[in-house]
Amino acid sequence: MAKAKIISLLNMKGGVGKTTCAVNLATYLARDHGKRVLLVDFDSQTNASLSVMTETAWEKWADKHGTMADVLEARSKKKHGEPEKLVDCIVRNVLPEVPGLDLIPSHLALTFIDLDLAARPGRERIFARKIAKVIEEYDVILCDCPPNLMSATQNALYASDAYLIPMQPDYLSTLGLNLLQDRLGYLKRELEFKIRCLGVVFTRVRGWLRYHSETIERLRTDNEFQKLYFFDTVIPENIKLAEAPMEAKPIELHDSGASGAEAFRALTKEFLTRLG
Ligand SMILES: Nc1ncnc2c1ncn2[C@@H]1O[C@H](COP(=O)(O)OP(=O)(O)OP(=O)(O)O)[C@@H](O)[C@H]1O
Ligand SMILES: [Mg+2]
Repeated sequence: MAKAKIISLLNMKGGVGKTTCAVNLATYLARDHGKRVLLVDFDSQTNASLSVMTETAWEKWADKHGTMADVLEARSKKKHGEPEKLVDCIVRNVLPEVPGLDLIPSHLALTFIDLDLAARPGRERIFARKIAKVIEEYDVILCDCPPNLMSATQNALYASDAYLIPMQPDYLSTLGLNLLQDRLGYLKRELEFKIRCLGVVFTRVRGWLRYHSETIERLRTDNEFQKLYFFDTVIPENIKLAEAPMEAKPIELHDSGASGAEAFRALTKEFLTRLG
């Protein structure tokens, strides 16, 4: 069986739509394209987890089974000193309406993972080693990263084939794009891993703002970013995308007619073409 492609959703900037992209891409890959998908929540904020699970269901799961805090061996979460098996932490078919979508939820205990792993040799390779055991069960594994490049993100990147950058089309985000590329170059050299950029997705686009359309146009044509692929599909600012997590549902199950749903259906097709 073929191995899954592992993709990290990445940006050092917060609140740009990484989690929204991860959750909805994962949903449409499974629902519309029959892919076997694993969504992995690397962020201690647990936003991706709580976008597809109710708080009660998540609490029960975290208590009884385990989360990414166990997978990454956060000291504050370890039971009996035994590292948890990754496979035990997978919530199979997390949404009954979306067969084929599995989740490894996160936990607040990941907040101090950098301190917990400080003296651990090979700390950025823990996830890569453990995911290898289930990689053939999936077509795509999506890693929702926190807005930094610390230990949790390094674990995601070390295992990934590619990364996707969700970004808002504004001036400061443009500066962030350069910083991100620079820091990633450094990590790639130091940790010796290979990873390619799948592309940049413009998110929270307000079509009526000339500032947004001009920034998008400028980036697409800027020589500095010639090597980067910018997705044709852009994700519009759409309140339905912000409402959906309140019901622990992706946009498709909240309002399939919303502009955000339409955009994510198109993005998923383009994503698959890029993945090859
Ligand atoms: N296209 C959109 N339209 C409207 N609201 C959006 C859109 N994308 C994201 N949001 C909302 O904006 C907030 C931030 O989005 P999200 O959590 O996806 O960003 P993030 O990059 O994962 O943030 P963080 O860096 O904190 O992990 C959330 O409340 C989300 O529901
Ligand atoms: Mg997030």
